Amino acid sequence: MTSTRVAAPTFEHHAEALGVGEPCPRISWKTVTEEAGWQQAAYEVAVDAPGGEPAWRSGRVVSGESVLVPWGAPALRSRDRREVRVRVWGAADSEPSAWSPPSVVEAGLLDTGDFTAGFVTPDWSEDTSVAQPATLLRRGFVLRAPVASARLYITALGVYEAEINGVRVGDQVLAPGWTSYQHRLRYQTFDVTGFLQPGANAIGAWVGDGWYRGRLGFEGGRRNIYGEHLGLLAQLEILYSDGTAETVTTDGEWQASRAPITSADLYDGESYDARREQPGWSQPGFDDRDWTAVRALDVDRARLVAPTGPPVRRIEEISPVEILTTPSGRTIVDFGQNLVGRLRITARAAAGHTVTLRHAEVLEDGELGTRPLRLAKATDSYTFRGGETEVWEPRFTVHGFRYAEVENWPGTLTLDDLTAVVLHTDMTRTGWFTCSDPMIDRLHENVVWSMRGNFLDVPTDCPQRDERLGWTGDILVFTPTAAYLYDCAGLLTSWLRDLAAEQQEAGGPIPLAVPGLLPAAPIAVWGDASTLVPWVLYQRTGDLGLLRDQFASMTAWMDVMTAHHARGGGQFGDDGIQMGDWLDPSALPEHPSAGRTDRMLVAAAYMVRSAEVVAATAELLGREDDRLRFAKLADEVRAQFQDEFISPHGRVSSDSQTAYALALQFALLPTEEARRGAARRLAELVRESRHAIGTGFVGTPLICDALCTAGALDTAYLMLTRREVPSFLYPLTMGATTMWERWDSMLPDGAINPGEMTSFNHYAFGAIADWLHRTVAGLAPAAPGYRKLLVRPVPGAGLTSATAAHETPYGRAEVAWQRTGTALTVDVTVPPNTTARIEFPDGTEPVEVGSGQHSFRVHCRAAEDDPTSEPTALERRIAARSTGAPIADWMRA
Ligand code: BGC
Repeated sequence: MTSTRVAAPTFEHHAEALGVGEPCPRISWKTVTEEAGWQQAAYEVAVDAPGGEPAWRSGRVVSGESVLVPWGAPALRSRDRREVRVRVWGAADSEPSAWSPPSVVEAGLLDTGDFTAGFVTPDWSEDTSVAQPATLLRRGFVLRAPVASARLYITALGVYEAEINGVRVGDQVLAPGWTSYQHRLRYQTFDVTGFLQPGANAIGAWVGDGWYRGRLGFEGGRRNIYGEHLGLLAQLEILYSDGTAETVTTDGEWQASRAPITSADLYDGESYDARREQPGWSQPGFDDRDWTAVRALDVDRARLVAPTGPPVRRIEEISPVEILTTPSGRTIVDFGQNLVGRLRITARAAAGHTVTLRHAEVLEDGELGTRPLRLAKATDSYTFRGGETEVWEPRFTVHGFRYAEVENWPGTLTLDDLTAVVLHTDMTRTGWFTCSDPMIDRLHENVVWSMRGNFLDVPTDCPQRDERLGWTGDILVFTPTAAYLYDCAGLLTSWLRDLAAEQQEAGGPIPLAVPGLLPAAPIAVWGDASTLVPWVLYQRTGDLGLLRDQFASMTAWMDVMTAHHARGGGQFGDDGIQMGDWLDPSALPEHPSAGRTDRMLVAAAYMVRSAEVVAATAELLGREDDRLRFAKLADEVRAQFQDEFISPHGRVSSDSQTAYALALQFALLPTEEARRGAARRLAELVRESRHAIGTGFVGTPLICDALCTAGALDTAYLMLTRREVPSFLYPLTMGATTMWERWDSMLPDGAINPGEMTSFNHYAFGAIADWLHRTVAGLAPAAPGYRKLLVRPVPGAGLTSATAAHETPYGRAEVAWQRTGTALTVDVTVPPNTTARIEFPDGTEPVEVGSGQHSFRVHCRAAEDDPTSEPTALERRIAARSTGAPIADWMRA
């Protein structure tokens, strides 16, 4: 037996594997070993039934694979529960490791026919043109014996929280989350064994409008997008200790009533009247005779699916830092951090007293800055029942805010009366970064907060105004960063399935936002999310199955763009629909797509990139015809791009940072001469603008990489560390605690940018964090799933240290560098079963190493010698012509 051990295995991208939808869930495991250079030579998987009865053994399989390994055991049937253990052999081991601790996987309901419950809705009439009170649904039931186990399979048309015998079931928030409900509606599985008792029991649920029929979209949006009637489907399956079974379902026995939530809307907020509470409503014995009957809703249950990722939960609580009185005399509470969630209040007041909470991200002229919210009211109100101290937190709304204006507080408001509850999808954190510059650390922290704020079941653009939509272009640019910071593969797998389903419904084009309320269109970058999000996830997680599942969507998108391109006579003529380098800082506030870079150039560049990625995917999937087809398409469009947009010496027709960054990073330049010319021009452009960022959504993820490609590392660092507007750090000088949508969402004088796009919590520009991880700290994947690492730290900007740590599918990888004078130490942790290539800034011969800890000491430029500014082209020309007199004198002469 070796000292090598294996951690408890995981299944697909599930953090909890109760109620999974995969009959053959792929298995992953991580090996923990002291042995340096450890490589897995073989593994064995043991699958047991509950109680340890062996169900299947793989036997010793000679293979180095340990990530998303196919389930070899007989396929799970609905409700099957298995314990899975793994042991491994290292290349040098004759003996296997000990068996890993077991992990349990339990299948949900895999066939539509397993759902015997249907949806029920209250049998009353409502005015669904406005937000409605939430609904309570309940029924009592009797159990004839002690319960051995019980599962609740449940979902809603709307958002819900279930209770059994007066106790809340689970801790999910805004379940079932938001999917393309017309195609896929998630159900949740809960182990409710401990909730039940022999004799009388009751089950109930709160159901609110949520995404299903609440208002969604800007310019007033629309209600009832998915349907007019709220619904609940619950299937409570009980196994008695005597081996017999019973099922309680949503049926005609249920009764309905209005909840104390008098209205709940995701944008507008929630109102709660505690005087309308009905104590004991989800307990047995409650008298529901005056409640309303329910009726069945005819909903196709074939759309019910199990989750592929974690649910939304309450993740953190934040106390306020200050209570302010505004110039107009209002009371505002500052939480010190722009966040997404809602407030919990604790107070005592007379019955009927109402407190109002209005949320916003910034202050303007000392008052709550609500204009960026557009038509979202973001206002909660609570009416007291009176008597004892009352504690309240809304259930069915969420806000993006740092400040809350509190109106009509009973007595004197103190910092202890309010708590902000941070909500987001409960993803596992997997990535960290630090460096010696606190401003850059805070920039990174702001990116993390913006990811947290916008991964609320769907990857959204912003969390505060009347959008909060799964804009495809936004996640496209942010996926590399997101996949490093958190394990978001399960969430994005679900989102990509929705994208594919909606794309199919639209006949090929991709909706601008998914789940879609907006038309599908052949719009580059946004639509390229269909090809590039799966590709990046494959690079970061090694999930080839995801590429296989998305392949039809990827090729359908290419077909749409090919047809669109052909309609333009093989040119990207201005079709008026492209969004180009959205939010280029030079674009007028009211025209975010009218930046410096030709929109057709952006579209063409992305078409080449997507075609290449689809060709590479086809190759991985062994589809030679497709590979040839898309490689040819990439060649053709690249050639057209070169004809149309590039001069022989590498001038790009749009003389912009983004155009050169695309040309360099997407390898669009035809010759070495053109490449050198483009590199020179990009660096010059950036220097001439005094390192001001000149990119929007398209250029920002590429610009620092492109400067490195151009051999202008110092220029990239000077861009990173610039503080004047527009720059990465300018928002920090204005107190930003999240990434902003615009480089100047807040203007230097403290006014909010007059444009429409002025979110203070937008992750797109946070794409820079990927460069911090890969280049500043130097930790990058060199093979899918980080099977091989590329460690290439490049110190600059006076930084004396940086670290990156990422929980890869194989275990934790770390890079930490430090420089003292001209000595650079680089400490690297390489996970078992992987290798790393390590490259050094001083040109020391790169090394290839196996797993374990490695330390190197090489040379580099001293931090004090890093440039803090660069001469502009004009200054360099002047200096060259001057006779030694100071520049200013020469100019005056
Ligand atoms: C969103 C963006 C989005 C854009 C596209 C905006 O309203 O907030 O992030 O990608 O629209 O039109």
